Amino acid sequence: MVRARIIGTGQHLPEKVLTNLDLEKMMDTTDEWIRQRTGIKQRYVAANGQGASDLGGPAAARAIEAAGIDPKEIDLIICCTTTPDYLFPASACLIQHQVGATKAAAYDVNAACSGFVCGLTTANAYIQAGIYKTIVIVGTEVVTSRLNWKKRDTAVLFGDGAGAVVVRAENGDHGILSTFLGADGGSGDLLILPGGGSRNVVTKENVDTGVHDISMKGPELFKKAVVVFGEAVQQALTATGLAINDIDVFIPHQANTRIIYAAADRIGLPQEKVFLNIDRVANTTAASIPIAIDDAVTQGRIRSGSIVLLAAFGAGITWGSIMLRW
Ligand SMILES: CC(C)(COP(=O)(O)OP(=O)(O)OC[C@H]1O[C@@H](n2cnc3c(N)ncnc32)[C@H](O)[C@@H]1OP(=O)(O)O)[C@@H](O)C(=O)NCCC(=O)NCCS
Repeated sequence: MVRARIIGTGQHLPEKVLTNLDLEKMMDTTDEWIRQRTGIKQRYVAANGQGASDLGGPAAARAIEAAGIDPKEIDLIICCTTTPDYLFPASACLIQHQVGATKAAAYDVNAACSGFVCGLTTANAYIQAGIYKTIVIVGTEVVTSRLNWKKRDTAVLFGDGAGAVVVRAENGDHGILSTFLGADGGSGDLLILPGGGSRNVVTKENVDTGVHDISMKGPELFKKAVVVFGEAVQQALTATGLAINDIDVFIPHQANTRIIYAAADRIGLPQEKVFLNIDRVANTTAASIPIAIDDAVTQGRIRSGSIVLLAAFGAGITWGSIMLRW
């Protein structure tokens, strides 16, 4: 059977590190509050003028190098981001140019923090349908470009970064075993950036009104996240016929350690199987899962044959899961 198999991973983080102690000097917060409520100790912050493709391009290049392929073999680049360089052209096109994937189609996907799971699901569908053979999926975000550093409820949570994977059509047992996506558009107000789109265009008058800041109902989102994470995992188990004990590594979207552990408890997954890097990179939105995959590979947590479960949730609200055999 043809499966989409991840054959290379990569990441790229900005140089600047902002610790919780740095944030203490910028707003009314404490290192202790942030660590206890979220598990975050630090985050990376892009330089002024650094766009999503400046992080995503190098991450993709590393994944391509790790895969050992010629960029001209790439059929498609999917860039998952909520903070593209421009409203158009798509950041995927900028990345296509950077990595020299001259034969690849390229487009962006925006499903907020579930973006990478949506992108990988789409890539899997193309491969299953026999349309494409080699696809690069990039998750890249410069979320800090959209943060108001005076709003402590959201400013402490996010960070910038990029991760990428190369998937290729292969015959055999290794690769993606199941995919599942969900959405509840009625809960869109739980996490929203109202300004800058077509509804609330940028005007001189509205710049200071707060319409361009991320608005979040944290505790409500927390409760929803635990439930939809659980559903995403259950869907993956049902689709594959695997049991919770078969999972070797669970790589969740890195939004909050408490949400992740609450979801793991709910589904009966031991904490030692959960992969976390939120302490180092914070919530990097669509980049969170591919950065974590690359870290897990580098640290030897994922090996050939490992059963890996990815699960995400985010604004929309959206959620999803992917089970794969590495
Ligand atoms: C945001 C979140 C960490 C807040 O944790 P919480 O336990 O729900 O905390 P609350 O919102 O109840 O706030 C508790 C108190 O801390 C305060 N507080 C909020 N942010 C703070 C900060 N950065 N530093 C210090 N205190 C803060 C609040 O003002 C509140 O004070 P009060 O009790 O005097 O009113 C948590 O709700 C969360 O993680 N939600 C999901 C967010 C998320 O994952 N978003 C991304 C989705 S992809």
